[in-house]
This record gives sequence, structure tokens and C-alpha cells, in this order.
Amino acid sequence: MAVNLKSRDFISLRDFTREELLQILDTAKMLKMHSRTGEEQKPLEGKTLGMIFTKPSTRTRISFEVGIWQLGGVGLFLSSDELQLRRGETIEDTAKVLSRYLDGIMIRTYAHQDVVDLGKYSTIPVINGLTDLLHPCQAASDLLTMREKLGRLQGVNMTFLGDGGNNMVHSLINAAAKVGMNITVGSPQQYRPAAEVLAGAEEDARKSGATITLCEDPVEAVNDADVVYADVWVSMGDDEQQRQKRLDELAPYQVNGDIWKYTADEAIFMHCLPAHRGEEVSAGILDGPMSVVFDQAENRLHLQKAIMALTM
Ligand code: CP
Ligand code: NVA
Repeated sequence: MAVNLKSRDFISLRDFTREELLQILDTAKMLKMHSRTGEEQKPLEGKTLGMIFTKPSTRTRISFEVGIWQLGGVGLFLSSDELQLRRGETIEDTAKVLSRYLDGIMIRTYAHQDVVDLGKYSTIPVINGLTDLLHPCQAASDLLTMREKLGRLQGVNMTFLGDGGNNMVHSLINAAAKVGMNITVGSPQQYRPAAEVLAGAEEDARKSGATITLCEDPVEAVNDADVVYADVWVSMGDDEQQRQKRLDELAPYQVNGDIWKYTADEAIFMHCLPAHRGEEVSAGILDGPMSVVFDQAENRLHLQKAIMALTM
């Protein structure tokens, strides 16, 4: 039976049941098909999405702005520099004011708690466009891409190699645990996922049959993987003074032709982008036949349209 997601925030994948997530994926699949066949509808006619950014973005900004427009609504880009938030207006007051003008808010920022607070004080849906802790829109879109490429999600073996403590890994762990995928994080000890994320995902994994494995050996980590996923080694908000140290410590975890020999036949390579060729991934892999990174980027549009159409 169809589940009703009207007015719901989209802040963490943990807030959704497996059925709800699958409904979002199915809606995205339908919207993608309609965009191909020219049968697009405009369910958000007359509605406005505010988009607050305190960090840079290419994909998130453009896919949300184009997406709301395709659904019949309007997107309002709100640079944090130009909001009174920067001069100390509280999140609570901002949330209450924006709720009087807008029909939805998408926010990309540093502190995850700021997004949680925005959701708490807003009377309209709040969508998390990335925080230091999570990147749920990307991970949900990636489920759509994996389902398209592999034909299934349950039982798929996904390996994330690199900085195992960043927002991307955390949301991929949450996603895998919900839908019953096996996720292995290959990283040095000091780059492991946050304990709070692991604890929450373990609860979901018990229900879905997913497994979550942490592994220090990059070769062992990618062994038999259907999906190998990489992300930058220095995320937005990480200490730039530590850049070289991070690159040195993570160097053994580069996804390249040597490591690819150990993956499953027909394995795919995924990356949320932007990528740094020669750091977390070699150009041969990122630009090779195993790479689905631009399909991932496209699916951000379809998946986020589904989130907006279902919640706003
Ligand atoms: N993957 C992703 O979120 O890209 P942007 O930082 O360009 O939005
Ligand atoms: N982990 C990266 C993801 C970018 C989309 C960052 O936060 O910079």
C-alpha cells in the first residue's frame, strides 16, 4: 500500500522505513520515465522551495533548482551570507519565518544539529542537502542507481574505500542497513564511521539482514564487491591544515586498477563527485567502463524530485 510522506522532513535515512524508502525510489523511477517520455506532470504548481547553502555545491544546487521547476514550482537560492542567520538570528526564528513564506526548505550546512533544529521549528518539510554528518539525498539516489545497474539491492556487496568517517559513508551505511545490503568500510583505524551511526544502523541491519563490516586491509575490503564507492579524502569543513597528512594516510585506499582485480566480475564504481583523480580514485577507474558516476549525478535530479513531490 502506498505510504503517505506529506509534510515529512528528509534529514536522515534512518527516519524512514524500508517501505517508505522503496516508495521514494519507485516514485523517482516513475518521474525519470516520465521525463524521458515527455509525460511530465506539475504536482507542485505554485509552490516554493527555499534552498539555503553555507557550503559550495554544483549537483545539489542545480538538481534541486531544476527539479522544483520541472515539478511546477519555484526554487529560491538563499546564500547564508545574505540571510540574517549570519548576523546571529536564531535557527528557531528563521525556521518560523521561512515557514510563513515557503512550502519546503533544502539546506546544506556544517553542523547536523542545525538541520535537526530547523526541522523541529519549521512547519514545512526540511530536506538535508548535506551536513558534516550525513548526505542522505546522495545515498538515496545511489540506491536508485544501484537498483538500475544491478537489478536488486538486497544482498548486494558494497565496499566504501577511503575516509570511513565522512558524511557519505554514514549515509551509505544507513541506506545499506535499511534495504539489506552488505556494506564494508575499508579505511585506517582513525578514519572509521561514527559510533552513533554504526549503533543506529546495526539496529536496522538486524531487521533487514544487512551486514556492516569495518576492515583495515583495502584488498580484503574490496574482495568480491559488486559496488566499490569512493569519496574525497578531504571533505568540506575538514581541517585544510591536515590535508597532506590525510592524503598520506589514505593513499593505500585509492581505488585503482590494482585493487579492481579483487572485485566481483561486472562490479561498478561509484563516486558522489566532485572527484580528485589521482587521489581517492585513478583516472582509469573514474573514466573507465566500470564507472557509473554520471548516472549517479543524473539520478540526484529524479530522486530529489520524488522527495519533493512526496513531502511538499
Ligand atoms: N555530490 C554532491 O552533493 O555534489 P555537490 O557538492 O556538487 O552538490
Ligand atoms: N564528503 C564530501 C561530499 C561532497 C558531496 C564533502 O562533504 O565534501
